[in-house]
Amino acid sequence: SKKNIILLLASTTLLVTPAYAAKAYQVATDAAYAPFESVNEKKEIVGFDIDIIKAVALKAGIDIQLHNTPWEGIFATLSSGDRDLVVSAVTITPERKQSMDFSDPYFEAKQLIAIGKKSTISNFTALKEKKVGVQTGTTGDEVVQKLLGKTSSNIKRFESTPLALKELLNGGVDAVVADNGVVINFMTNNKSSSLKTIDDVTFAKEYYGFAVKKGNKELLEKLNKGIAAIKADGTYDKIHKKYFGS
Ligand code: ARG
Repeated sequence: SKKNIILLLASTTLLVTPAYAAKAYQVATDAAYAPFESVNEKKEIVGFDIDIIKAVALKAGIDIQLHNTPWEGIFATLSSGDRDLVVSAVTITPERKQSMDFSDPYFEAKQLIAIGKKSTISNFTALKEKKVGVQTGTTGDEVVQKLLGKTSSNIKRFESTPLALKELLNGGVDAVVADNGVVINFMTNNKSSSLKTIDDVTFAKEYYGFAVKKGNKELLEKLNKGIAAIKADGTYDKIHKKYFGS
């Protein structure tokens, strides 16, 4: 009967569709890191990194799905296979390269020291006897560890960089060391903010990359092709301008 044919068609479609549906790559991002990744009023994950990975995915012909994920443990989602890539302003470091693979770099950054406007701290070494706020497990944390020692009780660790900066505003720490873009964004968005920054010459350049599970060459190739394509056709520059004004 007609009804049976329709039912048959319906069940066939159900069986067949998943096999044809393109695999969506699962992306972990710690969206408390404006202007790179944050959650807007509509509860959407937005930012420079998000525009970049969406443009890269479009060029690479892949689908992606974003998941807001706490920074602590974000890399474990790759090794466990829960997520395919981490797009989270991740600095490519030799240490991290031992346990995961990185795309070509897509952004240059540097550590920046934030202090109160009236602070007399004038350079990085002056933080030696001070309380310094960092986001746990970031390159800012690593840099401060080198000066204060890994287990120093003067290192105050926070689960996000904005939380560390808020603590600086509250006077709970004397300084915060974090990625320049995020510190500057925080200062512009907290107009009442009584902070200033010090750029120390000893800080090395850092480069952000997309992290994938070690050995995932297939995805890396797609990402690198996408990055090259958006750099070549002006898409990258457009997104950069949108977030950084030039
Ligand atoms: N670039 C720094 C690092 O890799 C900080 C990144 C933090 N990213 C974030 N979305 N919370 O350690």
